[in-house]
Amino acid sequence: MLSEQTQPKFYGRRQGRKIRKAKTGLLEAFLPQIQINSNTVFKKESLFGCPVNKIYLEIGFGNGEHLAGQALKNPDIGFIGAEVFKNGVANLLTLITGIKEKKDLPETGIKLEKNRVDNIRIFSDDVRILFSQIPDSFIDKIFVLFPDPWPKKRHENRRFINHENLKEIARILKKGGILRVATDHKVYKSWTLHQLHDCPFFTWTATCGNDWKRPPSDWIETKYQRKALQEGRRPVFLDFVRL
Ligand SMILES: C[S@@+](CC[C@H](N)C(=O)[O-])C[C@H]1O[C@@H](n2cnc3c(N)ncnc32)[C@H](O)[C@@H]1O
Repeated sequence: MLSEQTQPKFYGRRQGRKIRKAKTGLLEAFLPQIQINSNTVFKKESLFGCPVNKIYLEIGFGNGEHLAGQALKNPDIGFIGAEVFKNGVANLLTLITGIKEKKDLPETGIKLEKNRVDNIRIFSDDVRILFSQIPDSFIDKIFVLFPDPWPKKRHENRRFINHENLKEIARILKKGGILRVATDHKVYKSWTLHQLHDCPFFTWTATCGNDWKRPPSDWIETKYQRKALQEGRRPVFLDFVRL
């Protein structure tokens, strides 16, 4: 675990509106069951509550719609989600337990919603703190969906897709694995393509002029994507293969 002084500076929000009682209950009583901490052992055989064939990581899962949806669709894949925003983590817990109201919280033993397998683990902090715990080539696919664009030039050092993070992403991603970046921001699109072009570990998979303008076949819509479309911004979906 990094000391407070060596922790990377995080510029986004850690908490928003007051979290409702049902969600507070989930954060207190259910999150510890599926939370990754500094003692977690990164072994494919034991990290999840069910056997998994592959491991995917979603960085900055926001309200958790994509993560929860992917995990439901792929019960044989283990998903690690990292998110700093507490309200987002709480929302993901609602999505996977189905508990929305305080009255639905059981006295003890909160469980996943029926038909869900235990294939999600959560790191409720900055993923950069987690990176050093993840072994080389441990992950099969990484999602960075609609990262905060920090469009002003003077804020470009805050953008998540950068040289340092790409080095770590390349280390933990298997050869042949995919890094998917989605964005609705022109500046971030060009920034991402430049960063990845300069990075020797990845190549862009785009094959024809338009395939990266359409959601991939395994896509699950998110709140940010809906908002972008409503406001007239067209998202792009950039997949890069780890060489
Ligand atoms: C613009 S939101 C997008 C959320 C979600 N991916 C979606 O598409 O709806 C970006 C999210 O990334 C999270 N985030 C940014 N940097 C992060 C980091 N270093 N580690 C974990 N989460 C991070 C923020 O807290 C925020 O919730």
